[in-house]
Amino acid sequence: MSLKFLFVLTLITLSASDGYCYKILGVFPFPGISHNILSSKLMKGLLEAGHDVTMVGSLPIKDVPKGGKYNEIIIDGIVKHFQTTMSSMNMFDMEKEGFLKLLVTMSENFNTFLGLTFTDPKVQQLIHSGEKFDAVIVEQFSNDALKVFAHIFDCHLIILSSIGPNSWVNDLVGNPSPVSYAAHFTVGDFSKDLSIYNRGKNMLIYIGDYLLSNLYLLRKQDAIIRQYFPDAPPFMDLYTNVSLVLLNSHTSLYPALPVVPNMVEIGGYFIDPPKELPKDLKDILDNSPEGVIYFSLGSNLKSKDLPLERREFILRVLGKLKEKVLCKFEEDLPDRPKNVLIRKWLPQQDVLAHPNIKLFITHGGLLSTTETIYHGVPILAIPVFGDQNANADRAVAGGYGLKLEYLSPDFTEENLEKKLNELLHNPQYRNNVKSKQKVYHDRPEKPMKTAVYWIEYAIRHKGAPHLRVAGAKLPWYKYYMVDVLAVILLALLVVYKTGKCVVQKLFGKIKQTVSSEKKKN
Ligand SMILES: *[C@@H]1O[C@H](CO)[C@@H](O)[C@H](O)[C@H]1NC(C)=O
Repeated sequence: MSLKFLFVLTLITLSASDGYCYKILGVFPFPGISHNILSSKLMKGLLEAGHDVTMVGSLPIKDVPKGGKYNEIIIDGIVKHFQTTMSSMNMFDMEKEGFLKLLVTMSENFNTFLGLTFTDPKVQQLIHSGEKFDAVIVEQFSNDALKVFAHIFDCHLIILSSIGPNSWVNDLVGNPSPVSYAAHFTVGDFSKDLSIYNRGKNMLIYIGDYLLSNLYLLRKQDAIIRQYFPDAPPFMDLYTNVSLVLLNSHTSLYPALPVVPNMVEIGGYFIDPPKELPKDLKDILDNSPEGVIYFSLGSNLKSKDLPLERREFILRVLGKLKEKVLCKFEEDLPDRPKNVLIRKWLPQQDVLAHPNIKLFITHGGLLSTTETIYHGVPILAIPVFGDQNANADRAVAGGYGLKLEYLSPDFTEENLEKKLNELLHNPQYRNNVKSKQKVYHDRPEKPMKTAVYWIEYAIRHKGAPHLRVAGAKLPWYKYYMVDVLAVILLALLVVYKTGKCVVQKLFGKIKQTVSSEKKKN
């Protein structure tokens, strides 16, 4: 084998990469499990492509792949703070608080994470080490003060968004987001029913979000930057100095929406191809030609938080099915029916990949609803909080699932049974999810490769200013032409007023002449 050939071969194996080794910093202080899956997968993808990665975060990355150099800085105290705040909250009760209150509570917790990040001695050491980076990647999640890292290291800012185009990232890059059909991320997909009510509700939520962000949350972020980095440039300059937004979305997962050129969809990049199942699970699944239902409420919701009465009727309904039910529960239940199998942990991807899986009963988390499309399995979504309801609505609108809201009075034994039977016996759900699955996989390259390509692209082209739309820097009244409309309205008003005046004067004269003529006669 000639040396040249070997060289070419190496390039092909590193084919996601442009051959240069860049130095990339990832800052991901939020300790939520699904968010960490998203960030660590991206870091691993960059390492595999041969780049040097430094990760500042709250949880260590497991199974660091071979490739570039990896340096990890774990911020002290975040996980502990998170666990104490989380354990005092019951996730099933959180949604009752209301959307705006939830955003404020969330952001207050996150501000503590920001303080812990900026003051951590290891982070301070990194800041003062003179170390250079080509780009910094942060997740957009109520943590805008982190954008200051791009200024500190004088490098390009890349944003990772765990969902599709949304109000938090649209404003960074001037992405158009017509409120008439672009559902706010807390509102379910209403593209099938663009009634005045749905559009109006959507608009009001956008306005509420905008006001809350701009009058309170972003000012707080600015104050945090001033507190720790008094010499940083004005907040708005940092906020919109974004080279690239990576969106964990795809047209197979979300309704079609506009994206500006520096927004790139990499939906599902975190999913690995399925692996072989452990022997016992494989035996169960292989030997269940009648089909298996997979039941998991995700990593945040503890099944022990389910009230006893609900747990009992769920088990009663599942017990009546002819299919086996594979449940992820933290504890075994002594009174479980014979067809219900319980495990503390299950390799979700590999289970969903099995051809005998007929249905997935899920809380409707983003990772789960993506994986279900990857593997082509219809769902019954039981959403509780956050984006789960919107994800469930998308499944319903996409015809590949039904939803039963955990907190609604509809969550009854009869409804659970009815929805399960509909999903198991009407083939339309399976057909729809299979066609979504086809759309999901029909891309020119794997989404991780797309992600690596565009990160390198942004660095190669010095922040890719040519991809930015001019609108990103415009204040809202210019973006929406309010100033121009105001001038036009003013001009019309002036024309109308002068016109009216002239007409009155003229008529006044005519009247006068007429009446004086009359008098003469
Ligand atoms: C904006 O980002 C570029 C790199 O893309 C950087 O050189 C510049 O200093 C940044 N501007 C501000 C105000 O942070």
